[in-house]
Amino acid sequence: MARPKIALIGAGQIGGTLAHLAALKELGDIVLFDIAEGTPQGKALDIAQSGPSEGFDAGLKGANSYEDIADADVCIVTAGVPRKPGMSRDDLLGINLKVMKSVGEGIKQYAPNAFVICITNPLDAMVWALREFSGLPHNKVVGMAGVLDSARFRHFLSLEFGVSMKDVTAFVLGGHGDTMVPLVRYSTVAGIPLPDLVAMGWTTQEKMDAIVQRTRDGGAEIVGLLKTGSAFYAPATSAIEMAESYLKDQKRLLPCAAFVKGAYGLDGMYVGVPTVIGANGIERIVDIKLNKDEQVMFQKSVDAVKGLVDACKGIDPSLA
Ligand code: APR
Repeated sequence: MARPKIALIGAGQIGGTLAHLAALKELGDIVLFDIAEGTPQGKALDIAQSGPSEGFDAGLKGANSYEDIADADVCIVTAGVPRKPGMSRDDLLGINLKVMKSVGEGIKQYAPNAFVICITNPLDAMVWALREFSGLPHNKVVGMAGVLDSARFRHFLSLEFGVSMKDVTAFVLGGHGDTMVPLVRYSTVAGIPLPDLVAMGWTTQEKMDAIVQRTRDGGAEIVGLLKTGSAFYAPATSAIEMAESYLKDQKRLLPCAAFVKGAYGLDGMYVGVPTVIGANGIERIVDIKLNKDEQVMFQKSVDAVKGLVDACKGIDPSLA
């Protein structure tokens, strides 16, 4: 049986890391695509040459033509520009919307059966636009945000409690931005919810609030340190987790920017919610009952995403 084909659209910092991880995990044969000539070919060759030491079997190819992504099983999209210090994700909207148009059309023509994971920011609006431009079914186009946001939350919590990250679970809802909603009562250490840990004296409410805020600002913290770009190791790892769940039909329950119609009282939009990812793409959206405070925060996040989608429609009338 042939290996799955994984097309990485964008061969920059995240794209290169995705290719390396996909090869190490032997998820399939990998095509790195970029408009920059030489970059995808150079990265493909470099990673392929790590194969003998690592002992992986995976084909790696660099490309500047969409023909090379033909019949991909998975496409992971990072094409576009990242943030610089002082920029919000939303500042990228105009430039990256144009990129989504060319990428969407390329996927539509050459890889219409793929499971598509978008990473390009501002995430919730870009995944929506990519779906519109590609015309693929909504369950096959999804955005990577919640896995990364909850990984950041889990990391900070594990430091606070002095326990393994493996034993910390966390849930984050809403858009990938300042309005994201870390769901404290569904976040646990070995099943013990955070509010109980506060009551047990393991931490204080102030410290929890600070960790929630640091999670919301997690991307900006790294942009501020790197100065020339944004995070790439953890974003790539998060998208690989989603791709693996699809390719191996693992049915992982992962928070993703998915198209929500009906659940959460929404009438059809992309926003971060818990999903089940399996061989049919997004197979289920888990409709958690939110309490009043969470509902208010979620609504704020939904409104922020709607504002970005409206801005896209203003820029490109074909989306209206
Ligand atoms: N088609 C294909 N590739 C493109 C296009 C396009 N139209 N426009 C730009 N690119 C490529 C660039 O040539 C570059 O190699 O996208 C790549 C982006 O890589 P980086 O600049 O290194 O950015 P990266 O850190 O990988 O982030 C990519 O993900 O997290 C988000 O905010 C981030 O939107 C950004 C994206």
